[in-house]
Amino acid sequence: MHEFFMRRCLQLAAGGRGRTGINPMVGAVLVRNGQIIAEGVHREFGRAHAERELLWKLEPANQSARSARFGALREICSTDALYVNLEPCCHTDKKTPPCTDAIIKSGLKRVVFGMQDPNPSVCGRGLEILRASGIEVIGPVLEDECRRFNRGFLSLQEGRRPWITLKIARTRTGKVAHDDGSMMKITSTEQNAWSHEFLRARHDAILVGVGTILTDDSRLTMRACSGERVASSQPYRIVLDPTLRIPFAARVLNDDLVSKTIIVCMPEADSGKKSELRSRGAHIVECSVQDGSFDFSELWRLLTTPKNFFYGISSILVEGGPRTWDAFRKARMMDEEITLVGE
Ligand SMILES: NC(=O)c1ccc[n+]([C@@H]2O[C@H](COP(=O)([O-])OP(=O)(O)OC[C@H]3O[C@@H](n4cnc5c(N)ncnc54)[C@H](OP(=O)(O)O)[C@@H]3O)[C@@H](O)[C@H]2O)c1
Repeated sequence: MHEFFMRRCLQLAAGGRGRTGINPMVGAVLVRNGQIIAEGVHREFGRAHAERELLWKLEPANQSARSARFGALREICSTDALYVNLEPCCHTDKKTPPCTDAIIKSGLKRVVFGMQDPNPSVCGRGLEILRASGIEVIGPVLEDECRRFNRGFLSLQEGRRPWITLKIARTRTGKVAHDDGSMMKITSTEQNAWSHEFLRARHDAILVGVGTILTDDSRLTMRACSGERVASSQPYRIVLDPTLRIPFAARVLNDDLVSKTIIVCMPEADSGKKSELRSRGAHIVECSVQDGSFDFSELWRLLTTPKNFFYGISSILVEGGPRTWDAFRKARMMDEEITLVGE
């Protein structure tokens, strides 16, 4: 039973994918007599946490016509249980007060959680505070699924960098492109659909080297996706381009998603071209190069620091090409490697 409601939390949490930035994706449900009577989601970086959104909905003034039909929903019952896939927070960040306060104040008597929050300012303390106030705390429930689901957030907390997946498409004979370097169609329609839905749609950003832009002119968008992620939260597109070789005609600079294009270059790169790229709507991130590669720790700091409407990136799908894969492997900057073998 606990697993069933925790899965619903994860399903709801996925609604925040691509919008929660460096925050975790969190969903919450309130269960009474085996039925879900209210739900909450952390929808976007800086907005209410899932538990708060759920409790807010219970306040009489905020009840929609539909939820008001559950007359009893107005008050928390002693049998109600709050399910949430991440330990409730107990600290005040810049935008949101502690969820533990709201839970205690609501009168809830039972909380079921999916995993402990690795954030050092929470890390079990949220659970302790709830227990100390007499709330029954149950969990972790579906811990492995919850950790896997929020692997980007965990990677930022525990490894200080985004989760990195390398994706490679190759033929049975090991080719990744034609001999002249031009793009080779390798994967099947089914493989493409799978990689859009399970790879592109499940990372905050897709990264390539400028070589791939020059040869393939990739769009780097999430397409043909029937899954949980909505079109308005397309992943960012990151191009590693130290000296700004990207042509102005590149697709990633000429579609509706140009504001999702991040070009990483050296501070010394042509300032005129930087300005022109910015004026076209792309983001320029300046990062120093050491021993022929961008300084990854500096790059992760730049990409994980929220600024204005940029909420930070917690997971990256590295799609190539070979020189870029090599740079990531050499620096041991990868958590997962997925190879699709085609004809
Ligand atoms: N089969 C597949 O899965 C797949 C996927 C993508 C691409 N491809 C193929 O791969 C080929 C292109 O690959 P490629 O190896 O020539 O180029 P690439 O890996 O796409 O881009 C390499 C360039 O990106 C920049 N770069 C990459 N990593 C960097 C780092 N850590 N630090 C600084 N700069 C970095 C450098 O630019 P500078 O040279 O300007 O310094 C480097 O030369 C094409 O034939 C394409 O069709 C195949």
